[in-house]
Amino acid sequence: MRKNIAILEGDGIGPEIVREALKVLKTIGERYGHQFNLEYAPFGAGAYFSEGSPFPEKTKAICDRADVILKGPVGLAVERMNEIPQEHRPEVGAILPLRQRYDTYANFRPVRLPKALANFSPLKPEIIGEGLDILMIRELVGGIYFGKKTEGSATGMKYAEDECIYTAEQVRRVAVVAFDEARKRRCRMINIHKANVLATSRFWNAVVEEVARDYPEVAYQSVLVDNAAYQLVINPGMFNGVCLLENMMGDILTDQAGGVIGSLGLMPSACVGPEKSYVEPAHGSAPDIAGKNIANPYSMIGSVALMLEKCLELPGEGKAVWDALFGVFEKGFTTSELAKGYAPEKVLSTNDFGDMVVDILKG
Ligand code: IPM
Ligand code: MN
Repeated sequence: MRKNIAILEGDGIGPEIVREALKVLKTIGERYGHQFNLEYAPFGAGAYFSEGSPFPEKTKAICDRADVILKGPVGLAVERMNEIPQEHRPEVGAILPLRQRYDTYANFRPVRLPKALANFSPLKPEIIGEGLDILMIRELVGGIYFGKKTEGSATGMKYAEDECIYTAEQVRRVAVVAFDEARKRRCRMINIHKANVLATSRFWNAVVEEVARDYPEVAYQSVLVDNAAYQLVINPGMFNGVCLLENMMGDILTDQAGGVIGSLGLMPSACVGPEKSYVEPAHGSAPDIAGKNIANPYSMIGSVALMLEKCLELPGEGKAVWDALFGVFEKGFTTSELAKGYAPEKVLSTNDFGDMVVDILKG
């Protein structure tokens, strides 16, 4: 296989974790005989300062001609971010436009914590039970994040408004992705919503339940989002399977899930569109630890695994990366933010972690 990959290193810890991810990708290329051509492009807060835009035209051109995009986290320290006008901040000026440009509506965010690694979680081992293997699927290009934003004044009162719209097609297509995954994994599909209050949730549920009729073999469950937040801490195992969430609820609960497994550094993601997809970690750019070679590259390397699986249809290669990632932990090693209770020699730097994944892949 020959593929062109756009590399958006991003800000903060972005370049150092992307470097490790690319080591792993290179190893996969060598081992399985694939050719991955990389093209780097500026993206994020740094790109705003160097190019005048967080998503410059030349980056758009590079992404347009790439088969798939690998993106690091973006954003700088608050003081530096405050120098950037609102519309050019990386969230609204780069990430959302990237998602919109390629209509990457299905965001895969796996939450994986084998029983043997229950010590990573801030929760008691008996709460983690037999381990967690949840695939959260977040709708990524609709809802309140993409609705019209208004600030105004009426009858002497200032107000702000965020519009939240979901069309039937927007709900249907992501529900199909979630049910397909649940069927493939032979697990249940848990739909998370707020239908007791929101019209968009009632509409969402009606469409999801219509799609459910095409999947009689998939057990379907629906849970209110506030209760889901509670259960995620009390009984996270009940979510083992596929969870479907709209954009904002998915944003919030996937961060919470990162907390449940001990670190956002364990949260990779893939953002899949009809024609083009990209991958990114679910966390930010951690400017406070940038350049120190201590950031956990798991989320970025896991994003390579997801790229292989979900974007390039190379599930065997993807699994090899997952196995190697968990292999590092199985050997008793960890990363600095998860180091509590570990001997110092078992705590890996960013590049040692990447090297160990590569060594395991090379066998
Ligand atoms: C995420 C991030 C983004 C989001 C921000 C940075 C726009 O929090 O990918 O979860 O809200 O989707
Ligand atoms: Mn988020």
